[in-house]
Amino acid sequence: MVELILKKKHGYVLSESEIDFMVQDFTSGRIPDYQMSAMLMAICFKGLNDEETTFLTHSMVHSGEVVDLSSIPGIKVDKHSTGGVGDKTTLILGPLVAAAGVPVAKMSGRGLGHTGGTLDKLESIPGFSVDLSTDQFLHQVKTVGLAVCAQSANLVPADKKLYALRDVTGTVDNISLIASSIMSKKLASGADAIVIDIKVGDGAFMKTVKDAEHLANMMINIAAKMGKKLVAVITGMDQPLGYEVGNVLEVKEAVKTLRGEGPDDLTEVCITLAAHMLVLAGKYSNLDTARQELILLIKNGKAFEKFLEFVKAQGGDTSFFEKENFPESPVKFDFVATKDGYIARVLALEIGNASVCLGAGRETKDSSIDPLAGITLVKKQGDSVKKAMFWLLYSLQIKNILKRLWNI
Ligand code: URA
Repeated sequence: MVELILKKKHGYVLSESEIDFMVQDFTSGRIPDYQMSAMLMAICFKGLNDEETTFLTHSMVHSGEVVDLSSIPGIKVDKHSTGGVGDKTTLILGPLVAAAGVPVAKMSGRGLGHTGGTLDKLESIPGFSVDLSTDQFLHQVKTVGLAVCAQSANLVPADKKLYALRDVTGTVDNISLIASSIMSKKLASGADAIVIDIKVGDGAFMKTVKDAEHLANMMINIAAKMGKKLVAVITGMDQPLGYEVGNVLEVKEAVKTLRGEGPDDLTEVCITLAAHMLVLAGKYSNLDTARQELILLIKNGKAFEKFLEFVKAQGGDTSFFEKENFPESPVKFDFVATKDGYIARVLALEIGNASVCLGAGRETKDSSIDPLAGITLVKKQGDSVKKAMFWLLYSLQIKNILKRLWNI
């Protein structure tokens, strides 16, 4: 390992067998964290070329179990988002794509940091279970057309160890390391084709379109070398997606969107990603036809019906949506404008971090989540605001304080 660290430190290219030795021996514990930390930092300074990134991805895929989806007929298309604030797209496009007749077998992760995780959102539905055995998972995909479960502990164990180390050694933001981390999990989950939603902006890993394009090209390249199709869609994350940030709040907005009453930005991202999934699955030959079909599935209620079927199959209480009796946080604060004007920016990263402080996300991987906590935006970038009247400002705060005292 010392030789390999020196080789990378001096900018040389690592071979396939060297990368495989490093990944497998690190996963099994034979290479200690301090040596891998030095290697990760050397990679951050000297980079990995496309071939090295593909070798790294391949080796990571084979560090653990590879899911076999071959018993499900057709082309299995997976979707992944690089992570954003208010990103509840899986909750919407999963049922949409399944309602269009394309099976969705999705293994998801939990949120860490300022971005939320799909599993936490789904678990805010009473009774919903994300812990499915492989047999239950495959059976549900075959019968319902959609299943979402937690990744098994043995899916890409190399990524689990590497990601934890990157997190504490300042080496998360290297594009080759990000691409191999994401792609290894998608490939090990058994997908034939993949749609990647690369978020760009203040609340995303990629801060510029140039970096997002670089990551997109790298992932397209890895997929092609592994014989898979991949479409990357670059979408904005300068402000949260939709208006709701927080677990129950996001489920509520996802349901609204499935009923055709969702915000335009969220609806557009979901329709675009879902249309690419349908085309990759070979269901439609072009995006326009796929989009029309998806819009129809929202209008005629089939997408929402599929969502209810999926929730029921995983033990969730569907009366939660049917009556629209979403629980609300007992404590609320309103933020009102203190002068007239326009909203210049809604900082996604700050909103994400604030929602974590409120309990909607995890500060460490063992923190517990408050499903009701979160932030509802009333205005977004470009909207005008009027100064709240003096009495309104005070009556809102007094109302909040009284409510709080009452709850205590
Ligand atoms: N998401 C991942 O799964 N891995 C990364 O490295 C970054 C985002």
